[in-house]
Amino acid sequence: MSKVVCTSYLFPEEVERLEAAGHDASVYEGEGPIPRDRLIAELAGAEALICQLVDRIDAEFLDAASRLRIAANVAVGYENVDVAAARERDIVVTNTPDVLTEATADLTFALLLGAARRIAEADATVRRGEFPAWGLEQELTGIDVFGKTLGIVGMGRIGLAVARRGRFGFGMQVLYHNRTRRRAAEEELGAEFVPLDRLLAESDFVCVHVPLTDETRHLIGSGELARMKPTAILINVARGPVVDEEALVRALDAGEIAGAGLDVYEREPEVHPRLLDLRECVVLAPHLGSATRETRRSMARLAVDNVLAVLSGQPPLTPVN
Ligand code: NAP
Ligand code: GLV
Repeated sequence: MSKVVCTSYLFPEEVERLEAAGHDASVYEGEGPIPRDRLIAELAGAEALICQLVDRIDAEFLDAASRLRIAANVAVGYENVDVAAARERDIVVTNTPDVLTEATADLTFALLLGAARRIAEADATVRRGEFPAWGLEQELTGIDVFGKTLGIVGMGRIGLAVARRGRFGFGMQVLYHNRTRRRAAEEELGAEFVPLDRLLAESDFVCVHVPLTDETRHLIGSGELARMKPTAILINVARGPVVDEEALVRALDAGEIAGAGLDVYEREPEVHPRLLDLRECVVLAPHLGSATRETRRSMARLAVDNVLAVLSGQPPLTPVN
């Protein structure tokens, strides 16, 4: 029997699968992220960890978990885990790619449409009991999405799923920037591989889908924002620090870009106060990319599949190291 520590709620059917395989599942049931000292204490003797992106799994932490064989992160992004430190200690790290791609692409498009058509403002207006008069210059008039140019920064799994929505759902031209050229995406979507500067200058909507790495931290800063069209909208459903939030606020205030749709922030769960004020051009979500009932179940299932595989001596399904 192996002890499996789960840092937050796990669906009962997944706990049952762990127990049916003869493991002892210890699930933290407190509010919010598990306190670090409590987690370190829990990990004594544990062979598997199921963790969330709010849990910082660093070398100090791994040293306290001497029997750990796998850290299964329930997210596709894994910058919260020190993967090199895990590798040095022969600990497998896994993530949950693919199963959340479509839900995250849907949320990206929801923010894009919400920002373009001012949905949050419109909702608040109606709830205040107001109903702006119909007219050519009607209050809450937005901008077209159909037929515009969509710029994808990071044409990976989610970037491609967003591009498909743009191309086939909204007749958009797709530009993309990646370190590696994706010829299959070009053939499927007629997408054009362009340098970041050109993508920023020509896109009506810029969607960021790169992972957070040393290379992508503040990939979108003041210089990049200044290159965008004043009518353009920036969507970030990747990681907050990929966009320099202070620079974004300045660009929005100065009218260098027209708006933003954000699911992620530099200092989550804090949100820059100025972003909260900018109701007319900014749509905000609290890191909901993969938050559909079906997708969260699939993510939990994949994390448990990875744990069961490693504990039974099989290779993990989705290793990152
Ligand atoms: P993925 O398939 O690995 O795609 C990432 C893409 O970014 C790859 O095509 C990669 O291609 C490109 N890239 C990496 N570094 C780059 C750089 N320096 N410059 C340009 N392009 C770069 O990952 P995914 O599954 O699409 O997920 C992407 C990210 O979305 C995750 O890492 C996570 O942080 C975020 N996410 C957020 C939510 C949410 O709830 N908001 C949900 C899911 C995922 P090359 O390496 O060839 O350049
Ligand atoms: C969510 O942000 C993820 O990386 O899966």
